Amino acid sequence: MSTSLLQRLGIVHPLIQAPMAGPNTPALVAAVSHAGGLGSFGAGYLEPKDILDQSAQIRALTDKPFALNLFVLPDTFEADESAVARIRDRLDALMEQEGLSVRTQRPASWAPVFSDQFAALCEVRPAVASFVFNLITPTQLRELHRRDIYVIGTATSVAEARAWAELGADAVCVQGAEAGGHRGTFLHAPEEAMIGLFALLPLAVRAVGIPVIAAGGIMDGQGMLAAEVLGAAASQLGTAFLACPESGAAPAWKRDLASADDHRIGTIRSFSGRAARGLRNRYTQAMQPFEAELPPYPILNALTAPLRRAAGQAGRGDLVSEWCGQAATLVRPMPAAELVKVLMNEYRAARHQFVA
Ligand SMILES: Cc1cc2nc3c(=O)[nH]c(=O)nc-3n(C[C@H](O)[C@H](O)[C@H](O)COP(=O)(O)O)c2cc1C
Repeated sequence: MSTSLLQRLGIVHPLIQAPMAGPNTPALVAAVSHAGGLGSFGAGYLEPKDILDQSAQIRALTDKPFALNLFVLPDTFEADESAVARIRDRLDALMEQEGLSVRTQRPASWAPVFSDQFAALCEVRPAVASFVFNLITPTQLRELHRRDIYVIGTATSVAEARAWAELGADAVCVQGAEAGGHRGTFLHAPEEAMIGLFALLPLAVRAVGIPVIAAGGIMDGQGMLAAEVLGAAASQLGTAFLACPESGAAPAWKRDLASADDHRIGTIRSFSGRAARGLRNRYTQAMQPFEAELPPYPILNALTAPLRRAAGQAGRGDLVSEWCGQAATLVRPMPAAELVKVLMNEYRAARHQFVA
């Protein structure tokens, strides 16, 4: 794998623990970085003060480099009030039917202000900043480079990979259709950019002159080697780390990963308003008839928050978002440092077996 990427990032293994806004914790990120991979902290849902606080917690646990990740969004959002009212009625009726006593609320703001989050990231000055959902601006890129921060963009098509390369990003992470969590797509309708990693990766490697990182459905060292053979400079694994004790995923989520039928892992818009891969469940089924009237991200995400919180507290995995990639059943619940070791042993063994 590209030693220049590893050297530049100061990491030992070609392994990136994917940012996972929500279930990622400082302990998970620090454990992976400390074990020689690159831990990433998805801070997309956090207010600036929490970004500063969580980053300090990571730094208290390790002096190794780590990545901070943000959702690139506008600073403000206009909601269609009649769509909001309609979906609130649907959600309130569902909560009543499911015996949850909370009801939806109209939040003071739909999401944290991106430019404030970006300022917090600059203040933290992590070794790596990664971004998803859109491009950052050339000015923002310059601000990061001025602070010597390595910039990784997320792409779900060759056109998006090119856009990041033309902007001047240091590397691009291609997210295959297999990937768990939100689709990073920004130049296309999400359903038009559901490209499998084995197709997207070699296409992107040929299209851009910067290191390409592979993400989507990679759960073991053999998968990491396969990505390397197709030109990846490193592999980014999310779901593989979800069942680690350091992950903040709820117990029901961790349990459901191991038994998830592959055909039940689908693309879901009804939790957040943005396409994301996860387990279809009782909630997604109940919301199916209302697909056409769902408000976009982050409006719907904010409106479903009380339901997700209450259902989570009640241990109702069938009503919350359980994001995961298509190969989720290959998950191995073990401490993150141990998982890094296992992955790298598998990677080395596969290399020995298959590469002369
Ligand atoms: C629970 C979960 C949350 C995620 N959150 C983020 C995020 O905050 N930022 C991001 O860039 N990618 C996020 N992703 C996507 C990952 O970066 C990556 O594309 C994906 O995990 C790769 O597929 P895999 O889960 O099959 O390994 C998330 C993935 C999961 C499973």
